[in-house]
Amino acid sequence: MTIDDVIIRVDDPVKPLDCAALYDPARTLEVEVGCGKGRFLNLRAAQFPQREFLGVERMKSRVESFARKAVRGNLANAHVCRIEALYAFHYLLPAHHAEKVYVFFPDPWPKRKHHSHRLFGEAFLSALHRVLREGGKLEFATDHEEYFHVVEECFANDARYRRTEPMPRPPEVWTEFETLFRGKGMEVFSAAWEAIGQSPDTLPPLQVMPDDEPREGIERRDKAMED
Ligand SMILES: C[S@@+](CC[C@H](N)C(=O)[O-])C[C@H]1O[C@@H](n2cnc3c(N)ncnc32)[C@H](O)[C@@H]1O
Repeated sequence: MTIDDVIIRVDDPVKPLDCAALYDPARTLEVEVGCGKGRFLNLRAAQFPQREFLGVERMKSRVESFARKAVRGNLANAHVCRIEALYAFHYLLPAHHAEKVYVFFPDPWPKRKHHSHRLFGEAFLSALHRVLREGGKLEFATDHEEYFHVVEECFANDARYRRTEPMPRPPEVWTEFETLFRGKGMEVFSAAWEAIGQSPDTLPPLQVMPDDEPREGIERRDKAMED
């Protein structure tokens, strides 16, 4: 097994993935957005060999770190693709298949002029609803209290979701960032929502295209986590 067996190459960001070529579509699917170096998802893939796990991440170095972990663990059920999350959920992922979607410590873009870069908003909630199966859950955690409340409000205003209890996350399953933040004594805010009903399998084309540029060149608050 090599990293090329783990990384799903995306040639066309609006063409649905041929998931049947990657794994048995009858298996349960879990997806992590912004999976970083993949600690959490690789641990789950090792724990649940009968399920499939897909990381979505836009930084090349992190996609490769994820893949190296999966190779070391010989995890044939762990996959990752380098793409902007909104494209992945709007176009690429299979409709109504994911049992769980994880978004842990997404970039909070604290400055007002950068709020448009935030992941959570109407477009992502629609794309997420397309990907979750009925009753499937979104698990969310952040260290950023203001962004936490913004995300709570997004879901509260959307009748396609119902709030539910977040999963327990003991230290053994913390992501790289959760480990870093909790190690500094920072508070972590967690929540979960489940999908009610089903959206159409395909959505109208995105009107506002997300910023597809990997953000590897810019100053990041998470510089300490770089390779
Ligand atoms: C703060 S890090 C958290 C990484 C990981 N979830 C953790 O908790 O350790 C945010 C990650 O999300 C990725 N990311 C941010 N926005 C994204 C987007 N729109 N699509 C895909 N990946 C994204 C970043 O490249 C980065 O690796």
